[in-house]
Amino acid sequence: MGQRIGFGIDVGGSGIKGGRVDLDTGQLIGDRIKIFTPQPATPEAVAKTIAEIVDIAQWDSDVGITIPSVVQNQIALLAANIDDSWVNTNCQELFAKYLPNNKAHVLNDADAAGLAEVQFGDPGNKTGAVLLLTFGTGIGSALIHDGLLYPNSELGHLVIDGMEAEHFASARVKDVEGLGFEEWAERVSKVLKTYEALFWPSRIIVGGGISREHEKWIRRLTCKTPVVPASLDNNAGIAGAAFAAEQGIYP
Ligand code: BGC
Repeated sequence: MGQRIGFGIDVGGSGIKGGRVDLDTGQLIGDRIKIFTPQPATPEAVAKTIAEIVDIAQWDSDVGITIPSVVQNQIALLAANIDDSWVNTNCQELFAKYLPNNKAHVLNDADAAGLAEVQFGDPGNKTGAVLLLTFGTGIGSALIHDGLLYPNSELGHLVIDGMEAEHFASARVKDVEGLGFEEWAERVSKVLKTYEALFWPSRIIVGGGISREHEKWIRRLTCKTPVVPASLDNNAGIAGAAFAAEQGIYP
């Protein structure tokens, strides 16, 4: 059987990254293409940049695309950390205009990373109730049970003691408020304890750039659920997007 290859694109606050993905391993094939996210990151500007990436890669088949928004019936519905003009954008119409030769499949960024961790990451992620969280500008979440995704969980917006979780414990808040790992881990513990009291996951996977420094903070967490660092590097979104597009798992 030939190699299954897909194409994924991850739209982040600072960069838009894409590449070919080996769909048996989740590894990137060839170079990852990265272009700075246009500012303001309007749907049209982002779609134009994605078209450039697809053109550079000379990819002419389906593409998976992640965005930091709720995506329901391929319509973006929320803009917490992305330009407001995304709200109510019909992603199918948008990408049909800029990618006339590729069918686009759009999903939430954390959902894509979660699918990739379950499909291609640590074998222990494959079964049970898994909660993946990404700590970055916001807090992204993916709820997956035995490999099946419950999309758009948006747990970063859960209000805990009068404050949205991501305004209290994201990696950005750690930087802006100059928190050390100890203090920040206390905040993350509070958030994780709230999630575990509601969802009782069998494991929590933590991702985002700060998971590279996981030795400094995972051991300080005081929740009951086992917490493991993401096993894929920061290409999980790209891999998950390509996988979701191939499998037709997109909301
Ligand atoms: C957004 C989510 C996104 C997360 C991480 C949140 O602010 O609402 O859709 O997954 O940030 O980017």
